[in-house]
Amino acid sequence: MTHFTGLSRRGFLFGAAALGGAAFLPTAAAAGPQLELTAMRTQAQLLAQPRPATPVWGYGGDLPGPELRFRQADRLSLHARNDLDTPTSIHWHGLRVPSAMDGVAHLTQPPIPPGGDFHYEFDLPDAGTYWYHPHMGGAEQLGRGLAGALVVEEEVPIRVDRDLVWMLQDWRLEPDGAIASDFDGMHDAMHGGRIGNHVTLNGRPGPRIAVAPNERLRLRIVNAATARIFALDFGALAPVVVALDGQPVAPHAPEDGVVLIGPGMRADIVLDASGGAGTEAPVRDLFRPDGAYEVATLVHGHTPLRARAPDWDMALPPNPLPEPDLAAATRHEVVFHGGMMGQMMMGADAPAMIDQMRQGRMWFINGRAAQGHDDPPLIVAERGSTQLIAMENRTGWWHPIHLHGHVFRIVSRDGRPTVHREWRDTVLMAPKERVEIAFRADNPGDWMLHCHVLAHQAAGMAALIRVA
Ligand code: C2O
Ligand code: CU
Repeated sequence: MTHFTGLSRRGFLFGAAALGGAAFLPTAAAAGPQLELTAMRTQAQLLAQPRPATPVWGYGGDLPGPELRFRQADRLSLHARNDLDTPTSIHWHGLRVPSAMDGVAHLTQPPIPPGGDFHYEFDLPDAGTYWYHPHMGGAEQLGRGLAGALVVEEEVPIRVDRDLVWMLQDWRLEPDGAIASDFDGMHDAMHGGRIGNHVTLNGRPGPRIAVAPNERLRLRIVNAATARIFALDFGALAPVVVALDGQPVAPHAPEDGVVLIGPGMRADIVLDASGGAGTEAPVRDLFRPDGAYEVATLVHGHTPLRARAPDWDMALPPNPLPEPDLAAATRHEVVFHGGMMGQMMMGADAPAMIDQMRQGRMWFINGRAAQGHDDPPLIVAERGSTQLIAMENRTGWWHPIHLHGHVFRIVSRDGRPTVHREWRDTVLMAPKERVEIAFRADNPGDWMLHCHVLAHQAAGMAALIRVA
């Protein structure tokens, strides 16, 4: 709808890159062997050969981390180990887990020290596309590669020929292929975050993916970049969005024809390979003004899989999410300030914000930049209550706002009810946009609400919601 259109009107255009080694693991059964994820240094061929491999941080030597697959209602039981020389943790982005399993270092668990381990175990009530990543020193740990997809399959999945994860990552590489170590740059923090110069899809730049004419794909697209937003254009192919952040949505063509995905977010699309025999279909990122580039190319083979595109049902069954009770909701106004070229800081909060800026804090939620995990909560919610958060972005930047432990409905944008009232765990807010979200606060604990542009989060754009 309007937010992407607004972007193109402002003259932003479309912004190189990648598929390949999707680690296709057998479905992880609850009763199966003990799952392990070890954070460690490894190498990955992020640049096209014969350019050198890049030293990265990965899970178990893979990049991205292994694709974990479960069935809805399974129980995840996984042992995390830390072979890095810095502490880490694992957060299960989008999954409604108990607080003690949420993986936020210093808040829900102690950091996993070098050489240490931590056992994660929780139920998986919701099907969908999720992901895991450290919640500690995030800008660096994700920027060096620590991320993986977690898929929870529906008991009866929709029919497709292939179900593929597309994990997008963005890297800032030096000419020799090494990852630049400028993770704390003030310029990045005050602007759009640490945007890289090299994009990969499943760890490969611009992969060519063979498809058969009239083959039906389910693509589970995960934006694991620390700052880059993607607006994916499929050219002559017609993607149908069937889930957002893992949660089913009425199947629909993406607004403005592009699949817009901010950091942390996911989109499941059904894509029919409707190009003719032997044709290529580039998948391009059109978000950035400095030129479009290909994240992948679908290469149609010569032998159609069937005579015409399938007409199979695409609607996914809903997850058992608690419906917010809007009539009884507690309403909160939440304003984001900060960064370069934001709205003037005015009112009672302004002097305090200017003071915090002198201490290197750049982003503010209701006038306050996060300092640490003992900050007072932004919101205290009674367990079971409905919370409506009216968020206003008074900055000149996009922010993907992520809530832990819950899934919310997007009720309105700029005062207008949303068409799909979609469920999300992360909402992408355009500059100056207002968004209302609502959720049932049914999961006790302290939960983070933060921007998933990790340099913004690190510079203050984070708060706590306490459900007691
Ligand atoms: Cu994907 Cu607070 O995280
Ligand atoms: Cu942000």
